[in-house]
Amino acid sequence: MAGNWKMFKTDDQAVSFIKNFVPLVGDIADRDAALAVPATALQRVAEEAKGSGVIIGAQNLHWEKEGAFTGEISAPMIVGAGASMVLIGHSERRQYFGDTDEWVAKKLSAAIEAGLLAVVCVGETLSERESERTFEVLSKQLKGSLAGFAAKDEKKLILAYEPVWAIGTGKTATKEEAQETQAFIRKELKALALPAESIRILYGGSVKPDNAADLMAQPDIDGLLVGGASLQADSFAKIVNFGK
Ligand code: PGA
Repeated sequence: MAGNWKMFKTDDQAVSFIKNFVPLVGDIADRDAALAVPATALQRVAEEAKGSGVIIGAQNLHWEKEGAFTGEISAPMIVGAGASMVLIGHSERRQYFGDTDEWVAKKLSAAIEAGLLAVVCVGETLSERESERTFEVLSKQLKGSLAGFAAKDEKKLILAYEPVWAIGTGKTATKEEAQETQAFIRKELKALALPAESIRILYGGSVKPDNAADLMAQPDIDGLLVGGASLQADSFAKIVNFGK
């Protein structure tokens, strides 16, 4: 269960969230909880979350270790801040900041090399779904984004299917739509000679405490990537604690 805070929370607000959140999730031995936080809050939040089992990550990275790339952060910097995960290729990065499949592949290699857990996001737009190009688009995104990824690193990769039309819109894919698409993604992973059964595939897009359990009951939904509903400790804790 991963939260994505996007460009929300100063580091003080982030620390106060973590202080409230950790006691609410308590024992998470049977599931993973993760938060992708703004770069400015990484260090303090990672410090605060130490020992809780909550995984802290960044929302993006550059593929180079260092260099003249104003405004960017690298995998070693994320590791240095005490974090262990990174989101890659979120649709907002693809839409507003020009991330391409080729960049995603380079970012993924850099993340793996640094030992980070990488959450690679894919998803179709509304017009692509309406013109029945969903599978074609996903297939291309997966092939491009995972180019160069080696099966031996399977434990370091998580896929996230996020239909762009369901992000922040209150419009969730139905559980059937999400299941059908995620089963397709698993099939594509297999076709790319990756261990599809053991790679976790998250669903994201307007996940809320009241739809989490239904989505999680689908065989090919292994977890959830949560934006808006991860900003309040109590609502994200309800999602993490689904079924308890
Ligand atoms: P949302 O965002 O839950 O607010 O729809 C999901 C995401 O962008 O990861």
